[in-house]
Amino acid sequence: MDSLIVNSGRPLAGEITVQGSKNSSLPILAATVLVGGVCQIHNCPDLTDTQAAIAILRHLGCKVKTGKNTVTVDSSDVSCYNIPDSLMREMRSSIVFLGSVLGRTGKAELSAPGGCEIGLRPIDLHLSSLRVMGCRIEEDYGHIRCERVKENRTSVISLSFPSVGATENIILAAALSKGRTVIHNAAREPEIYDLVAFLNECGCKISFRMQGTVVIEGVKKLHGCRYSVMADRIVALTYMTGAAVAGGDITLHGVNTNHFRTVIPVFEAAGCCVEDRKSLLRIRSDKRLRAVRDIRTMPYPGFPTDAQAPVMAMLSVAEGTSVIIENIFESRFKHVSELSRMGAKIKIEGKIALIDGVRELYGTSVTASDLRGGAALVVAGLAAKGSTVIENISHIDRGYEKIEDCFKILGADIKRVN
Ligand code: EPZ
Repeated sequence: MDSLIVNSGRPLAGEITVQGSKNSSLPILAATVLVGGVCQIHNCPDLTDTQAAIAILRHLGCKVKTGKNTVTVDSSDVSCYNIPDSLMREMRSSIVFLGSVLGRTGKAELSAPGGCEIGLRPIDLHLSSLRVMGCRIEEDYGHIRCERVKENRTSVISLSFPSVGATENIILAAALSKGRTVIHNAAREPEIYDLVAFLNECGCKISFRMQGTVVIEGVKKLHGCRYSVMADRIVALTYMTGAAVAGGDITLHGVNTNHFRTVIPVFEAAGCCVEDRKSLLRIRSDKRLRAVRDIRTMPYPGFPTDAQAPVMAMLSVAEGTSVIIENIFESRFKHVSELSRMGAKIKIEGKIALIDGVRELYGTSVTASDLRGGAALVVAGLAAKGSTVIENISHIDRGYEKIEDCFKILGADIKRVN
C-alpha cells in the first residue's frame, strides 16, 4: 500500500498543464459503446477509475488500445449487455454504462453501485427516468435488469434534482432511440457539455435549451471521431488550494476559466490574487489567509461539492471562522476527523462545518477516506509543521494522475513511498 509523505515550508512556484477530467472522461468512455466504430479519446487521464472503465469496455467486446493519455476504442463488436459485479464494484460511477449499453443493445444487466464513503448515492432518478423512456426495469438484491420495451415518439423527463449521473444516463440511453427525449432540470456541469460535444461529434443531435433543458433527437447510427477531454476543474482547484496554503505563485494551463466563476471569489475573499486569462489561471498568495463565510456547495454553476474538502483544508489555517455548508452529499465530512488530528479546529453541525482557523497544523499520520478528502490531506500537509504521512492513497489515485509529481513540479516537498 503506497503512502505519501508531505513536508511544508516551501512556497509553490511554477506552471503545470492540468490533467484531463475524470468526471468527463468516464461518461465519454462509456459513450463509445454507442458508436459502433473507432473513437480516439485524447487528454484522457490515466487513473484507476479510467482503467476500470476500460476493463468494462473490453468485457463488452470493445477493442481498446491505450497510449500516453490517449485511449482508442473500437466498439464495432459490442456483443454483451451484462456487466459483472466484479467490474461494477471497481468503480461506483460504472453506473454510467447503464445508459450506453442500453442505448446500444436495448438491454442492460448490472449491479447497483451502492453507497460509498460520501453518501448513499441512490439511483432512483436514473431508473425512474429510464422507465419514462419506455424501459422495463427489474431490481432485486442489488441487481438491475433493464430492457427497452417501448419506443416513445417523445419522452419528457423532469428531474427533481439536477443529478449529473442521471442526466448522463438519460442522454446515453436516448442518443440512438427512435424518438425525441426532453430533459427538464438537467445537470449543467461542464462535464455534461463535454459529453454532449463528444456525442454530437459522433453524429448525435443533442441541444441545450433555456435553463437546464436538454433535447435529444434520437439518430439511427453514429460514427467514430477524435475528441479531447476537457481539463479537470477539481484537480485545478486542488492545486490552487495548495498554493493558497503554502504561499507562492503558480500558473495552471489548459483550463477553461469559465468553469471557475463561483470559485475564484472564494480564493480572493481568502486573500489570494487570482488572474484568469481564458485558458490559464494564475494564483498568488503571500500572506496568511483570511476566513471565508458562507460557502455553500450547489449544483453547477454553484460552488462544486468536489472542492469542499480541499477548500476546507485551506481554510483550516485561515485567520477567523469560516463556514461551509455541504448541500449535495449527506456524509461528505469524513476528512474532518483527519484534519482535526492535524490540529484543525472544525465543528460539524449537520451539513454545516464551522472552521476556526489555526496558525498552523502539525504533521502526523492520517488516512484518506475518499478521493477529495484524501486530496485535502495533501493540502493540509503543505500547511503543517513537520511531516504528514497519508495512508490509503489509492483513493487519491482514483482521480489525480500522480498527484505527487504535479505538486513536486510546483516545488512541494512530497514523495510516494510504499
Ligand atoms: C457526479 O456524481 C460526480 N461523479 C461526483 O464527483 C460529483 O460530486 C457529483 O456528480 C456532483 O457534482 C462523476 O461524475 C463520476 P449526482 P453523481 O447524481 O452523478 C442525489 C468526485 O469526487 N441523487 O449529481 O453520483 C445523490 O444522492 C465525485 O469526482 C439522488 O438522490 O452525482 C446526491 O446527494 C464524487 N438520486 C446528489 O443527488 C439519484 O438517482 C448528487 O448526485 C441520483 C442522485
